[in-house]
Amino acid sequence: MNGVLVTGTDTGVGKTIVAALLCRAHPGATYVKPVQTGLASDEPDAAVVARLAGAPTRQGAAFDEALAPAVAARRAGATVTRGALLAPFRGLDAVVGEGAGGLLVELGTDGTTLADLADDLELPLVVVARPGLGTLNHTRLTCEAAWARGVRVAGIVVNRYPAEPDLAARTNLDGLAAIAPLLAVVPRTAEGTLPPVALPRLF
Ligand SMILES: Nc1ncnc2c1ncn2[C@@H]1O[C@H](COP(=O)(O)OP(=O)(O)O)[C@@H](O)[C@H]1O
Ligand SMILES: [Mg+2]
Repeated sequence: MNGVLVTGTDTGVGKTIVAALLCRAHPGATYVKPVQTGLASDEPDAAVVARLAGAPTRQGAAFDEALAPAVAARRAGATVTRGALLAPFRGLDAVVGEGAGGLLVELGTDGTTLADLADDLELPLVVVARPGLGTLNHTRLTCEAAWARGVRVAGIVVNRYPAEPDLAARTNLDGLAAIAPLLAVVPRTAEGTLPPVALPRLF
């Protein structure tokens, strides 16, 4: 299977927007969301990607509460296994997968994380990072956790880069590029639109 798994240094950092940009850059790839939460309040990520990038999508288990997946599942009385998280990836040639929250949040009630799925699927990560102060530490923590588990990092995408970056945002680009390849800097754009950036082909 070819593809990447999109993770981030935090929730709300822009994983879904970057996944949509990656789908644009890889026609034919299917977007996979192995577990979705927040159904009661938010549009599912797969629907956002379908709307913004026109890509085919697959979604695994889904839960109403906007919580970490394993917490939402347990509160709903459900079990989410590693096998169930891997199931929506089966049979696909090219995938852009998206985790939930950051790399080590429990997606499964059995403790499965996105790092485990990356290991099983032998897919590298794309790490979405904030531009401002604090991002060097968060990004390095995410990459080192991946590497410690034998998972590759294809690169970093900085998201919501301001039109007038402050000193930290300006100097952070070199710092991030020293951690892993800096694939793209995505500008802050109008809410609900796909930023006008072409991501490089990765597979
Ligand atoms: N570059 C951007 N410019 C403007 N808004 C953005 C940008 N990236 C993400 N957003 C908005 O921020 C929110 C969180 O982004 P999202 O991609 O859903 O994050 P995540 O998947 O990491 O939780 C969404 O409302 C999204 O539209
Ligand atoms: Mg998302």
